[in-house]
Amino acid sequence: MRVSATVCSKGGVGKTTTTANLGGRRVGAGLRVLLIGLDSQPTLSSYYDLSQPAPGGVHELPATELVGLDQIISRTAFSNLDITASNDYRNQLQQLLLNAPMVVSG
Ligand SMILES: Nc1ncnc2c1ncn2[C@@H]1O[C@H](COP(=O)(O)OP(=O)(O)OP(=O)(O)O)[C@@H](O)[C@H]1O
Ligand SMILES: [Mg+2]
Repeated sequence: MRVSATVCSKGGVGKTTTTANLGGRRVGAGLRVLLIGLDSQPTLSSYYDLSQPAPGGVHELPATELVGLDQIISRTAFSNLDITASNDYRNQLQQLLLNAPMVVSG
């Protein structure tokens, strides 16, 4: 599995657009892609039609043992492209991640 992040402290420079396009390109190249919208605005999920929207999103990401991945991963119209949408409307995600228990697997 490869993880890529699109990060810039400046607003409006194309982070979300770049991420949506990189995801689409990788699906086109035959990879399976999960896009995660960590922005407080739910813009990333607007780039693709959600065929099966999940009830949750990144707000529930720190508690996946409790909610289950199917509760936070939305399916798009493309079979290899899924999205965990931004739903951190109160901008609490940073604090939730700081307080989340560390999971060690292996
Ligand atoms: N390569 C590009 N060429 C022209 N316009 C672009 C390009 N990339 C993004 N845009 C446009 O710039 C605007 C901002 O893009 P985007 O929302 O992706 O930025 P952002 O960095 O995610 O913004 P924010 O900080 O608000 O989350 C949008 O209107 C988008 O359509
Ligand atoms: Mg953005």
